[in-house]
Amino acid sequence: MAKIPEDVIETVRTATNIADVVGQYVQLKKSGKNLFGLCPFHEERTPSFSVSEDKQIFHCFSCGRGGNVFKFLMELEHVSFREAVVKVADFSHVDLDTEYREEANAPAVDSKTGQLIDLHEQAAKLYHHILVNTEMGQPALDYLHQRGLTDATIEQYQLGFAPGQRLLKPFFDQRQADYQLLRQSGLFIENTQGELRDRFTERVMFPLRNASGHVAAFSGRVLKKTEDQPKYLNSPETALFTKSRLLFNFDLARPAIRQAGEVTLFEGYMDVISAAQAGVLNGIASMGTSLTTEQIYAIERTTDKINVCYDGDTPGQRATQRAIGLLQQHSHLQVSVIQLPEGQDPDEYRRAHGDEAFQQVMQSAKETPIRFQLRYLRRDRALDTDSERLAYLNDVMPLLAQVSEPVALDLYLNQLANEFQLDKSALVAQLKQVRQSTAAQQERQHVPAPTPVPLTAPVETVHQQRRPLTRLERAERQLLYWLLHDRNVWAKVTQVPDFCFVHDDYQVIYTLAQGYFQTHQAYQSAQFTDFIQEERLQQLVIELESTISLTAVTPREIDDYLKVIMDEAPLDAQLRAKKRALTEASRLGDAAQQRQLVIEIVQLEQQRQANKQV
Ligand code: UTP
Ligand code: MN
Repeated sequence: MAKIPEDVIETVRTATNIADVVGQYVQLKKSGKNLFGLCPFHEERTPSFSVSEDKQIFHCFSCGRGGNVFKFLMELEHVSFREAVVKVADFSHVDLDTEYREEANAPAVDSKTGQLIDLHEQAAKLYHHILVNTEMGQPALDYLHQRGLTDATIEQYQLGFAPGQRLLKPFFDQRQADYQLLRQSGLFIENTQGELRDRFTERVMFPLRNASGHVAAFSGRVLKKTEDQPKYLNSPETALFTKSRLLFNFDLARPAIRQAGEVTLFEGYMDVISAAQAGVLNGIASMGTSLTTEQIYAIERTTDKINVCYDGDTPGQRATQRAIGLLQQHSHLQVSVIQLPEGQDPDEYRRAHGDEAFQQVMQSAKETPIRFQLRYLRRDRALDTDSERLAYLNDVMPLLAQVSEPVALDLYLNQLANEFQLDKSALVAQLKQVRQSTAAQQERQHVPAPTPVPLTAPVETVHQQRRPLTRLERAERQLLYWLLHDRNVWAKVTQVPDFCFVHDDYQVIYTLAQGYFQTHQAYQSAQFTDFIQEERLQQLVIELESTISLTAVTPREIDDYLKVIMDEAPLDAQLRAKKRALTEASRLGDAAQQRQLVIEIVQLEQQRQANKQV
């Protein structure tokens, strides 16, 4: 296995701005010198995830994760260092020798997940091969062509066909795939004897890729509708596939979403694929219409505008209504609704009117959720009696009560007044009443605007769960930071006889830095973290980098830090020795010795306490 040399890694790193890579996954907003967003590693509503372009590092103040651009991809996409380097190189268009590339592209087959992914990707290849190259696949290929998909699209989405002959099981048997792995893949159905049979037969296969672009499951569509078969059959939940998390096409759409500043949520896989073929590349779909909060959080990390473009039929409208509610309740996303005319679904519309018309309607048919809801609430209502009209107005008022823009509100009120031949002032009066009665509810819904945590804030105040730092640790951190950043400080401290940090972690980083400076001229945090390798120490350095942001230090301050550390070092060492002795004494049951040691420990602690107050 060819190791990627450090100078190549360096080339990749310098060709890349970490903010651009992170920006593919997290919506970042500038605040001061840094960028902030919602941390992609855990669920949160206020941004505590920061990116420093100066230092080319990221750091989450809430979960403590941090590192350089490679680390970001390693953590987020669960890939190796090598694979992360390759991904970043591709992102930045750096040509990499194929010898580094080949292995990185192979899935990590050592882990269970890696093996399951490998299995899915092989299955996808087989299904695709059957679709495009075999007699068996011809009817399915004809079907897809007849639905207006081009070969390029079929290729890009790796569409496939699972024939009735159940070929997948023998295919994997031939490759001596592990029985347990096959069982857990969800690709087979098990009978009472434990025999496995292909789950998907006579279906057009849609590989479902996870956010990292790996096939994690399948959805199969029947070729010919029958009464007893669901139209789409999805893989069951497996270690790879959680239905409520996966968003169809999210991996491919992400760059387009970032570019357009908005995502379009469709109802079906066919709509997404069809839209992409028409050049609308920011489309995704949930598994059916059951949009979940997990999916909403994933979307909100990437953009702040969403278009809901479900089918124009009644179930589609109902699903739109539900999605609007869910999105408004669980996100700050700005929602638009796109309803295609005549109850069509997006795929039908594209086929009837062509790609260009489709692209246009995706912009021109956008409406506000209120406008959609005004229309939705009157469907199935004849509105030819007073009582029906009043019932409708009653339903509409709570919606209008939420409209905060005066002009928009006026527009809606005028339209209603005109349509129902009412006095507008009567509508306004009723609106007031509704507003008063929903005031309490409004109060609850009001979420204060997120205030980004400044990158310069000390860790103690940001990260309340963490214990506060002692004076000693603060001095150690400051000194270590300046050792790394200031060559004069380095020259001075390395001359101090017997100097060492009290805490092992800082001492190890200091020792590693000595090695680093032998081969590197200048300090770069994003490079140094790779150099030190060990996860915990990397985190420590990142934490220093993002919590200390002074631009200069005086010799006097350095002396102070040194003094604190040197004064405490012997005390600290003594304390640790006494505590070890105490453990030993209690193990031996030596009561007299224990008493003596406790007294000494208390004295040392008091001394240390006194030092701290200086
Ligand atoms: P639709 O039936 O609207 O899909 O279901 P579609 O895209 O119009 O299908 P075509 O055009 O007839 O091929 C929308 C989504 O609901 C889920 C799927 O996720 C599908 O994409 N669904 C639908 C199922 O999971 N099972 C079903 O039986 C039907
Ligand atoms: Mn549909």
